[in-house]
Amino acid sequence: MRRSWRPVAQIVLWQFGRREVPPAVRNLSTITFASSRVVDAELANRGFGLPWTTLTGGRASAALRGTFADVPHIRWASNSSALRSEDDGKEAESAKAEKQELVRSNYWGVVPKTATREDGSPWPWSSFRPWETYSPDISIDVKKHHVPENWEDKLAFWTVKALRYPTDLFFRKRYGCRAMMLETVAAVPGMVGGMLLHLRSLRRFEHSGGWIKALLEEAENERMHLMTLMEVTKPNWYERALVVTTQGVFFNAYFLLYLLTPRVAHRFVGYLEEEAIYSYTKYLEGIDKGHFENIPAPAIAIDYWRLPKDARLRDVVMVIRADEAHHRDVNHYASDIRKEGKQFYEAPAPLDHH
Ligand SMILES: [Fe+2]
Ligand SMILES: [Fe+2]
Repeated sequence: MRRSWRPVAQIVLWQFGRREVPPAVRNLSTITFASSRVVDAELANRGFGLPWTTLTGGRASAALRGTFADVPHIRWASNSSALRSEDDGKEAESAKAEKQELVRSNYWGVVPKTATREDGSPWPWSSFRPWETYSPDISIDVKKHHVPENWEDKLAFWTVKALRYPTDLFFRKRYGCRAMMLETVAAVPGMVGGMLLHLRSLRRFEHSGGWIKALLEEAENERMHLMTLMEVTKPNWYERALVVTTQGVFFNAYFLLYLLTPRVAHRFVGYLEEEAIYSYTKYLEGIDKGHFENIPAPAIAIDYWRLPKDARLRDVVMVIRADEAHHRDVNHYASDIRKEGKQFYEAPAPLDHH
Protein backbone atom coordinates (compact mmCIF):
# COMPACT_ATOMS: atom_id res chain seq x y z
CA MET A 1 0.00 0.00 0.00
CA ARG A 2 1.67 3.15 -1.23
CA ARG A 3 0.22 5.43 1.42
CA SER A 4 2.70 4.19 3.96
CA TRP A 5 5.07 7.14 3.73
CA ARG A 6 2.66 10.02 3.26
CA PRO A 7 3.31 12.93 5.57
CA VAL A 8 -0.40 13.34 6.31
CA ALA A 9 -0.51 10.11 8.23
CA GLN A 10 -1.73 10.74 11.70
CA ILE A 11 -0.09 8.06 13.70
CA VAL A 12 3.00 6.09 14.27
CA LEU A 13 2.04 2.49 14.79
CA TRP A 14 4.83 0.09 15.44
CA GLN A 15 4.62 -3.67 15.57
CA PHE A 16 2.33 -5.43 17.99
CA GLY A 17 3.80 -5.81 21.39
CA ARG A 18 6.53 -3.21 21.02
CA ARG A 19 6.13 -0.59 23.64
CA GLU A 20 9.13 1.48 22.59
CA VAL A 21 9.10 3.38 19.32
CA PRO A 22 12.60 3.00 17.82
CA PRO A 23 14.69 6.22 17.77
CA ALA A 24 14.82 6.26 13.98
CA VAL A 25 11.04 6.59 13.94
CA ARG A 26 10.77 8.87 16.96
CA ASN A 27 13.04 11.43 15.29
CA LEU A 28 11.14 11.71 12.04
CA SER A 29 10.08 15.28 11.31
CA THR A 30 6.99 14.18 9.46
CA ILE A 31 4.80 11.59 11.05
CA THR A 32 4.50 8.29 9.28
CA PHE A 33 3.03 4.96 10.13
CA ALA A 34 4.87 1.71 9.98
CA SER A 35 2.41 -0.58 8.28
CA SER A 36 -1.07 0.05 6.99
CA ARG A 37 -1.67 -3.70 7.15
CA VAL A 38 -1.10 -3.60 10.87
CA VAL A 39 -3.48 -0.66 11.12
CA ASP A 40 -6.14 -2.67 9.27
CA ALA A 41 -5.62 -5.62 11.56
CA GLU A 42 -5.87 -3.49 14.67
CA LEU A 43 -9.00 -1.82 13.30
CA ALA A 44 -10.52 -5.23 12.68
CA ASN A 45 -9.56 -6.38 16.14
CA ARG A 46 -11.44 -3.47 17.57
CA GLY A 47 -14.56 -4.14 15.59
CA PHE A 48 -14.01 -1.17 13.33
CA GLY A 49 -15.30 -2.35 9.98
CA LEU A 50 -13.59 -0.20 7.38
CA PRO A 51 -10.05 -0.86 6.23
CA TRP A 52 -7.43 1.86 6.48
CA THR A 53 -7.56 2.60 2.75
CA THR A 54 -11.00 4.12 3.12
CA LEU A 55 -10.06 6.10 6.19
CA THR A 56 -7.66 8.80 5.17
CA GLY A 57 -7.49 12.51 5.94
CA GLY A 58 -9.75 14.15 8.46
CA ARG A 59 -12.13 11.20 8.70
CA ALA A 60 -9.29 8.95 9.68
CA SER A 61 -8.04 11.40 12.24
CA ALA A 62 -11.34 11.57 14.10
CA ALA A 63 -12.16 7.91 13.78
CA LEU A 64 -8.75 6.54 14.63
CA ARG A 65 -8.09 8.84 17.56
CA GLY A 66 -11.21 7.50 19.23
CA THR A 67 -10.56 3.91 18.24
CA PHE A 68 -6.93 3.76 19.30
CA ALA A 69 -7.04 6.12 22.27
CA ASP A 70 -6.02 3.44 24.77
CA VAL A 71 -3.43 1.56 22.71
CA PRO A 72 -0.01 2.08 24.30
CA HIS A 73 2.10 1.31 21.24
CA ILE A 74 0.54 4.01 19.12
CA ARG A 75 1.98 7.51 19.21
CA TRP A 76 -0.27 10.28 18.04
CA ALA A 77 1.08 13.06 15.87
CA SER A 78 1.93 16.29 17.56
CA ASN A 79 3.98 17.60 14.68
CA SER A 80 2.33 20.77 13.44
CA SER A 81 3.48 20.45 9.83
CA ALA A 82 1.95 17.01 9.65
CA LEU A 83 -1.32 18.29 11.03
CA ARG A 84 -1.28 21.24 8.66
CA SER A 85 -0.79 18.88 5.72
CA GLU A 86 -3.68 16.91 7.06
CA ASP A 87 -5.99 19.94 6.98
CA ASP A 88 -4.83 20.97 3.52
CA GLY A 89 -5.48 17.55 2.08
CA LYS A 90 -8.70 16.94 4.00
CA GLU A 91 -11.19 17.65 1.22
CA ALA A 92 -9.30 15.80 -1.49
CA GLU A 93 -8.75 12.85 0.80
CA SER A 94 -12.41 12.67 1.80
CA ALA A 95 -13.50 12.65 -1.85
CA LYS A 96 -10.96 9.95 -2.60
CA ALA A 97 -12.08 7.90 0.39
CA GLU A 98 -15.71 8.06 -0.71
CA LYS A 99 -14.72 6.89 -4.17
CA GLN A 100 -12.77 3.98 -2.73
CA GLU A 101 -15.69 3.03 -0.54
CA LEU A 102 -17.97 3.04 -3.58
CA VAL A 103 -15.64 0.73 -5.48
CA ARG A 104 -15.34 -1.53 -2.48
CA SER A 105 -19.06 -2.01 -1.90
CA ASN A 106 -20.36 -2.13 -5.43
CA TYR A 107 -19.33 -4.57 -8.13
CA TRP A 108 -21.22 -3.82 -11.35
CA GLY A 109 -24.21 -2.82 -9.34
CA VAL A 110 -24.16 -5.95 -7.21
CA VAL A 111 -23.89 -5.02 -3.57
CA PRO A 112 -22.24 -7.87 -1.65
CA LYS A 113 -23.93 -9.43 1.34
CA THR A 114 -22.80 -7.74 4.51
CA ALA A 115 -21.36 -10.07 7.10
CA THR A 116 -20.95 -9.55 10.80
CA ARG A 117 -19.16 -11.20 13.67
CA GLU A 118 -21.17 -12.98 16.35
CA ASP A 119 -21.12 -9.80 18.43
CA GLY A 120 -22.71 -7.88 15.54
CA SER A 121 -19.61 -5.90 14.56
CA PRO A 122 -18.89 -5.62 10.82
CA TRP A 123 -16.80 -8.39 9.25
CA PRO A 124 -13.54 -6.74 8.15
CA TRP A 125 -11.95 -9.47 6.01
CA SER A 126 -12.64 -9.83 2.33
CA SER A 127 -10.27 -12.80 1.81
CA PHE A 128 -12.32 -15.09 4.05
CA ARG A 129 -15.87 -14.89 5.39
CA PRO A 130 -17.40 -15.87 8.74
CA TRP A 131 -18.69 -19.23 7.41
CA GLU A 132 -15.13 -20.21 6.41
CA THR A 133 -13.79 -19.84 9.94
CA TYR A 134 -13.51 -22.80 12.31
CA SER A 135 -12.28 -24.02 15.68
CA PRO A 136 -9.56 -26.65 15.23
CA ASP A 137 -9.52 -29.74 17.39
CA ILE A 138 -6.42 -29.10 19.50
CA SER A 139 -6.79 -32.49 21.17
CA ILE A 140 -5.49 -34.13 17.98
CA ASP A 141 -2.51 -36.44 18.62
CA VAL A 142 0.59 -34.42 17.73
CA LYS A 143 2.97 -37.31 18.39
CA LYS A 144 1.63 -39.73 15.81
CA HIS A 145 4.27 -40.94 13.36
CA HIS A 146 3.96 -43.05 10.25
CA VAL A 147 6.69 -45.67 10.37
CA PRO A 148 8.22 -46.02 6.88
CA GLU A 149 7.10 -49.36 5.44
CA ASN A 150 8.94 -49.66 2.14
CA TRP A 151 11.84 -48.04 0.32
CA GLU A 152 9.64 -45.26 -1.13
CA ASP A 153 8.46 -44.32 2.37
CA LYS A 154 12.06 -44.36 3.55
CA LEU A 155 13.11 -42.17 0.64
CA ALA A 156 10.37 -39.63 1.47
CA PHE A 157 11.24 -39.76 5.18
CA TRP A 158 14.98 -39.27 4.72
CA THR A 159 14.50 -36.55 2.10
CA VAL A 160 12.51 -34.55 4.63
CA LYS A 161 15.11 -35.24 7.33
CA ALA A 162 17.90 -34.16 4.96
CA LEU A 163 16.03 -30.94 4.14
CA ARG A 164 15.74 -30.21 7.84
CA TYR A 165 19.49 -30.02 8.28
CA PRO A 166 20.10 -26.83 6.23
CA THR A 167 16.88 -25.35 7.68
CA ASP A 168 18.17 -25.88 11.23
CA LEU A 169 21.49 -24.38 10.26
CA PHE A 170 19.90 -21.29 8.69
CA PHE A 171 17.28 -20.46 11.30
CA ARG A 172 18.78 -22.04 14.44
CA LYS A 173 16.35 -21.19 17.25
CA ARG A 174 14.43 -18.42 15.47
CA TYR A 175 11.29 -20.55 15.39
CA GLY A 176 8.89 -17.73 14.53
CA CYS A 177 10.86 -16.76 11.47
CA ARG A 178 11.46 -20.40 10.58
CA ALA A 179 7.75 -21.19 10.78
CA MET A 180 6.82 -18.23 8.62
CA MET A 181 9.37 -19.18 5.96
CA LEU A 182 8.32 -22.84 5.95
CA GLU A 183 4.68 -21.85 5.46
CA THR A 184 5.67 -20.33 2.11
CA VAL A 185 6.68 -23.87 1.09
CA ALA A 186 3.94 -25.75 2.93
CA ALA A 187 1.20 -24.02 0.93
CA VAL A 188 2.55 -25.35 -2.38
CA PRO A 189 1.80 -29.14 -2.34
CA GLY A 190 -1.96 -28.76 -1.76
CA MET A 191 -2.23 -26.41 -4.72
CA VAL A 192 -0.13 -28.64 -7.01
CA GLY A 193 -1.97 -31.82 -5.97
CA GLY A 194 -5.39 -30.13 -6.23
CA MET A 195 -4.53 -28.74 -9.67
CA LEU A 196 -3.28 -32.06 -11.03
CA LEU A 197 -6.29 -33.99 -9.68
CA HIS A 198 -8.54 -31.34 -11.18
CA LEU A 199 -6.91 -31.82 -14.59
CA ARG A 200 -7.10 -35.59 -14.21
CA SER A 201 -10.82 -35.38 -13.42
CA LEU A 202 -11.35 -33.34 -16.60
CA ARG A 203 -9.17 -35.59 -18.71
CA ARG A 204 -10.66 -38.86 -17.58
CA PHE A 205 -14.28 -37.82 -17.05
CA GLU A 206 -14.14 -39.09 -13.48
CA HIS A 207 -15.14 -37.85 -10.04
CA SER A 208 -12.59 -36.64 -7.53
CA GLY A 209 -13.96 -38.10 -4.29
CA GLY A 210 -13.62 -34.61 -2.82
CA TRP A 211 -9.84 -34.73 -2.96
CA ILE A 212 -9.47 -31.68 -5.20
CA LYS A 213 -11.36 -29.60 -2.68
CA ALA A 214 -9.56 -31.14 0.29
CA LEU A 215 -6.12 -30.38 -1.16
CA LEU A 216 -7.04 -26.85 -2.20
CA GLU A 217 -8.45 -26.31 1.30
CA GLU A 218 -5.12 -27.44 2.70
CA ALA A 219 -3.26 -24.96 0.48
CA GLU A 220 -5.54 -22.12 1.57
CA ASN A 221 -5.21 -23.12 5.23
CA GLU A 222 -1.40 -23.08 4.93
CA ARG A 223 -1.55 -19.68 3.27
CA MET A 224 -3.63 -18.40 6.19
CA HIS A 225 -0.86 -19.64 8.50
CA LEU A 226 1.49 -17.42 6.53
CA MET A 227 -0.89 -14.44 6.61
CA THR A 228 -1.02 -14.85 10.40
CA LEU A 229 2.69 -15.37 11.02
CA MET A 230 3.73 -12.39 8.91
CA GLU A 231 1.86 -10.23 11.44
CA VAL A 232 4.28 -11.30 14.16
CA THR A 233 7.56 -11.58 12.27
CA LYS A 234 8.86 -9.70 9.24
CA PRO A 235 11.17 -11.25 6.62
CA ASN A 236 14.27 -9.31 5.60
CA TRP A 237 15.54 -8.95 2.02
CA TYR A 238 17.63 -12.12 1.88
CA GLU A 239 14.85 -14.20 3.43
CA ARG A 240 12.49 -12.89 0.75
CA ALA A 241 15.07 -13.80 -1.91
CA LEU A 242 15.31 -17.28 -0.40
CA VAL A 243 11.51 -17.67 -0.58
CA VAL A 244 11.46 -16.74 -4.28
CA THR A 245 14.27 -19.17 -5.11
CA THR A 246 12.84 -21.99 -3.01
CA GLN A 247 9.40 -21.58 -4.54
CA GLY A 248 10.84 -21.81 -8.06
CA VAL A 249 12.66 -25.03 -7.26
CA PHE A 250 10.11 -26.65 -4.95
CA PHE A 251 7.03 -26.02 -7.10
CA ASN A 252 8.64 -27.66 -10.14
CA ALA A 253 10.16 -30.53 -8.18
CA TYR A 254 6.88 -31.33 -6.40
CA PHE A 255 4.92 -30.98 -9.66
CA LEU A 256 7.13 -33.59 -11.33
CA LEU A 257 7.04 -35.87 -8.30
CA TYR A 258 3.22 -35.73 -8.18
CA LEU A 259 3.00 -36.51 -11.91
CA LEU A 260 5.25 -39.52 -11.41
CA THR A 261 3.92 -40.85 -8.13
CA PRO A 262 1.17 -39.21 -6.06
CA ARG A 263 1.74 -41.92 -3.44
CA VAL A 264 5.30 -40.81 -2.67
CA ALA A 265 4.36 -37.13 -3.04
CA HIS A 266 1.68 -37.43 -0.33
CA ARG A 267 3.99 -39.48 1.89
CA PHE A 268 6.62 -36.77 1.54
CA VAL A 269 4.09 -34.11 2.61
CA GLY A 270 2.98 -36.33 5.51
CA TYR A 271 6.57 -36.34 6.82
CA LEU A 272 6.92 -32.63 6.10
CA GLU A 273 3.89 -32.05 8.32
CA GLU A 274 5.45 -34.18 11.06
CA GLU A 275 8.44 -31.82 10.94
CA ALA A 276 6.11 -28.79 11.03
CA ILE A 277 4.51 -30.19 14.20
CA TYR A 278 7.98 -30.57 15.72
CA SER A 279 8.89 -26.95 14.82
CA TYR A 280 5.68 -25.57 16.34
CA THR A 281 6.20 -27.68 19.47
CA LYS A 282 9.65 -26.07 19.82
CA TYR A 283 8.10 -22.67 19.22
CA LEU A 284 5.59 -23.35 22.03
CA GLU A 285 8.41 -24.39 24.35
CA GLY A 286 10.23 -21.15 23.50
CA ILE A 287 7.12 -19.13 24.37
CA ASP A 288 6.66 -21.05 27.64
CA LYS A 289 10.30 -20.49 28.61
CA GLY A 290 10.02 -16.78 27.84
CA HIS A 291 12.38 -16.84 24.85
CA PHE A 292 9.60 -15.38 22.72
CA GLU A 293 7.16 -12.79 24.00
CA ASN A 294 3.62 -14.13 24.23
CA ILE A 295 2.17 -11.12 22.43
CA PRO A 296 -1.55 -10.61 21.73
CA ALA A 297 -2.85 -12.73 18.85
CA PRO A 298 -3.12 -10.92 15.50
CA ALA A 299 -6.68 -9.87 14.65
CA ILE A 300 -6.75 -12.12 11.57
CA ALA A 301 -6.01 -15.18 13.75
CA ILE A 302 -8.76 -14.33 16.25
CA ASP A 303 -11.33 -14.20 13.47
CA TYR A 304 -10.05 -17.12 11.37
CA TRP A 305 -9.79 -19.64 14.23
CA ARG A 306 -12.65 -18.16 16.30
CA LEU A 307 -10.30 -17.47 19.17
CA PRO A 308 -11.30 -15.42 22.21
CA LYS A 309 -10.61 -11.67 21.96
CA ASP A 310 -7.84 -11.88 24.54
CA ALA A 311 -6.04 -14.79 22.79
CA ARG A 312 -2.24 -14.67 22.73
CA LEU A 313 0.46 -15.92 20.38
CA ARG A 314 0.58 -19.24 22.25
CA ASP A 315 -3.07 -19.93 21.42
CA VAL A 316 -2.36 -19.18 17.77
CA VAL A 317 0.61 -21.57 17.64
CA MET A 318 -1.56 -24.26 19.27
CA VAL A 319 -4.24 -24.05 16.58
CA ILE A 320 -1.71 -23.90 13.75
CA ARG A 321 -0.02 -27.02 15.14
CA ALA A 322 -3.42 -28.78 15.24
CA ASP A 323 -3.91 -27.85 11.56
CA GLU A 324 -0.51 -29.35 10.73
CA ALA A 325 -1.44 -32.57 12.53
CA HIS A 326 -4.57 -32.76 10.41
CA HIS A 327 -2.58 -32.20 7.21
CA ARG A 328 -0.21 -34.99 8.32
CA ASP A 329 -3.10 -37.43 8.66
CA VAL A 330 -4.72 -36.39 5.37
CA ASN A 331 -1.50 -36.83 3.40
CA HIS A 332 -0.51 -40.17 4.94
CA TYR A 333 -4.08 -41.36 4.31
CA ALA A 334 -3.89 -40.21 0.66
CA SER A 335 -0.62 -42.09 0.26
CA ASP A 336 -2.14 -45.22 1.83
CA ILE A 337 -5.07 -45.14 -0.62
CA ARG A 338 -2.66 -45.20 -3.54
CA LYS A 339 -0.56 -47.85 -1.86
CA GLU A 340 -3.59 -50.13 -1.74
CA GLY A 341 -3.86 -49.71 -5.50
CA LYS A 342 -7.01 -47.58 -5.31
CA GLN A 343 -7.89 -44.32 -7.00
CA PHE A 344 -8.63 -41.27 -4.86
CA TYR A 345 -12.29 -41.15 -5.90
CA GLU A 346 -12.78 -44.59 -4.34
CA ALA A 347 -12.08 -43.20 -0.84
CA PRO A 348 -13.92 -40.04 0.18
CA ALA A 349 -11.64 -37.17 1.19
CA PRO A 350 -11.75 -35.81 4.74
CA LEU A 351 -13.43 -32.51 3.89
CA ASP A 352 -14.11 -29.49 6.11
CA HIS A 353 -11.52 -30.40 8.73
CA HIS A 354 -8.81 -28.05 7.38
FE1 LIG B 1 1.21 -24.52 8.11
FE1 LIG C 1 0.68 -28.12 7.12
